[in-house]
Amino acid sequence: MRKVIAAAVVSGLLIFSISCATKKTSEIPPEKEKKIVQIGSSATKKLLKTLKGELIEALKRGPLYAIDVCSKKALQLTEKVEKEIGKGIDIKRTSLRYRNPKNAPDLYEREALEYFEKFEKEKKPLPDYYLQKVVIDGKTYYRFYKPLKVLPVCLTCHGKLRDMDPKLQTKLMKLYPGDQAINYEEGDFRGVVRVSIPEEALK
Ligand code: HEC
Repeated sequence: MRKVIAAAVVSGLLIFSISCATKKTSEIPPEKEKKIVQIGSSATKKLLKTLKGELIEALKRGPLYAIDVCSKKALQLTEKVEKEIGKGIDIKRTSLRYRNPKNAPDLYEREALEYFEKFEKEKKPLPDYYLQKVVIDGKTYYRFYKPLKVLPVCLTCHGKLRDMDPKLQTKLMKLYPGDQAINYEEGDFRGVVRVSIPEEALK
């Protein structure tokens, strides 16, 4: 509930602050960038390790069971990792083609996703990360974005509909009626892990 309220407040403010708040990598001083990348990479690794561990275990019991685990636990596990890291650091997975509307990108995240999407469209290798400086309600946050690619294991649940187990399709349609996270191929750009770091956490 707390998150919902925060999101509503933030989205109201975004319209006001987007024009002056977003800064590209080059506008963040190098010593700050180093710290942001360090915190961002380590938080990303921790999240992906946690999710992957849970996914592999769940897949052993079959994709239908694994879907349940993903839908019930992905956000919960993300919150658990945030709590372990502390310092007000906030982590999210988001995509231009999202499955859960709760993972939909805000304006800043959309900008970052489109940045990577441009490389994808031009068939160029994706940069390692993308950074933003964001001011929300007078507070400064640095955002670190790590691009995610589609691996073979992801295709079970994000691949072509025609290759998907019909029971899995039915379950996905029931859980996520507006699901956009299908028809991916191996190697596609899938989305990002976004790590938001409050200015004071860099000290
Ligand atoms: C067992 C099925 C399953 C597999 C395998 C799977 N996912 Fe997902 N994925 C889901 C479900 C279900 C969600 C929605 C989770 C939620 O409700 O928060 C999701 C959500 C996501 C999201 C968040 C954005 C969104 O679309 O809501 C990303 C990013 C993502 N998956 C990437 C991947 C990647 C990369 C892989 C492979 C390493 C992968 N997934 C493997 C089922 C799966």
